[in-house]
Amino acid sequence: QGDHDLNCLNIDDLEKLAYTRMDKMTRDYYNEGADSGSTLLENLKAYEKYRIRPRVLRDVSIIVTTTTIFGHKNAVPIGVAPTAMQRLAHSDGELATARACKKKGIAMGLSSFATTSLEDVAKECDGVVPNVLQLYLFEERAHSKKLIARAKKAGFKAVFLTVDTPYLGRRNAEIKNQFKLPSHFKIENFACEEDDEEQGADGGNPRTDNLPANTSAKRKAKKGSKAGYTDGESRVLPTGPITFHTHAANPTLSWEKDIEWLKQECCPEMEVWVKGIATAEDAILALHHQVRGIVVSNHGGRQLNGALATLDALPEVVEAIQGKIPVHVDGGIRHGTDVFKALALGADFVWVGRPALWGLAYKGQEGVELMLKLLSEEFRLCMALAGVTKVQDIAKEYLVKIDKSGF
Ligand code: FNR
Repeated sequence: QGDHDLNCLNIDDLEKLAYTRMDKMTRDYYNEGADSGSTLLENLKAYEKYRIRPRVLRDVSIIVTTTTIFGHKNAVPIGVAPTAMQRLAHSDGELATARACKKKGIAMGLSSFATTSLEDVAKECDGVVPNVLQLYLFEERAHSKKLIARAKKAGFKAVFLTVDTPYLGRRNAEIKNQFKLPSHFKIENFACEEDDEEQGADGGNPRTDNLPANTSAKRKAKKGSKAGYTDGESRVLPTGPITFHTHAANPTLSWEKDIEWLKQECCPEMEVWVKGIATAEDAILALHHQVRGIVVSNHGGRQLNGALATLDALPEVVEAIQGKIPVHVDGGIRHGTDVFKALALGADFVWVGRPALWGLAYKGQEGVELMLKLLSEEFRLCMALAGVTKVQDIAKEYLVKIDKSGF
């Protein structure tokens, strides 16, 4: 029967257990998608459109689930995706996630908007876990420059530039709840740059509407605060405290202007990847601009509602990339068989977002370890029952897509 937490035998159990351990504001912030939430739902449902074609009589007594990422061995082709403000789920926040990842040999993505500094997370992983810094490239380059230099120094292997947030998606529960980071937490990666007077102890401004970041900055500037300055045209850049709601969105980002700059800043210590690719056209541009890898993502359905499920976007991206750089995917992965299906459709690796937050809410580090254990065991069993002994052998012939009626 093995070693089980009988209350929590799969990620669905974990989600339910976590539900009761989070306050409404946190639960809504973590779980919701943009607008009606249909893309969030489709990310999950897309996995049900595929069935596995198992092969038999193949001696599956030895299964190797390991893979490599940024030159490191990873226990399974699964990483913990960067999600903001993890101390909302558990007081140890990102440190608990880092400890769990280290123990399980799993890559960790750290959000720019973490509630723990990147140095503290790197120290916890102690060079064992290849860390990725998720980057929101700010309009005020000086802040981003500093953050990149610190990540290099701390030994991060890569940056994932998030490219699906020129504006923040509309998340209605967040607005209704007037979501903000409680005053005892800080957005630690920028805490040293805070303007004490404006930031106070509160890392996150309440989100009172869904205006683009620079529009709300304009509003602040109008009020006569020191929050904004014009750059010669009509644009106003936010200069107050760095918060998720004022700084995550940057509508000016472009391939030509920003990717080359970022590569120069990160080179040679850190690889530059783009996170948030959803089409073959952009995959080809990513190749053209020589990024080192891409993550097919729609931000867990939190940005453009109505966008394609990530599993449905994956095949065209894989086809466009032709194996030239790694293709990862995230969104809706809740079972080891989902990992198998994503890899069969051509992904090299998958990332999970919300399940890690649920693990944190359930039992801190232990809960994240449990989440990783469940997914890893399910993935291993799936490989064995499908007749595959090596991750590299998982391929298209193991899947069939069923039609809309379910047959
Ligand atoms: C995210 N995600 C995210 N992405 C990013 O690039 N920077 C960030 O700060 C955050 N923050 C964040 C917070 C929360 C609460 C969630 C749920 C997600 C997106 C994340 O990296 C990933 O793309 C999705 O979470 C993947 O979908 P699943 O696994 O949650 O379905």
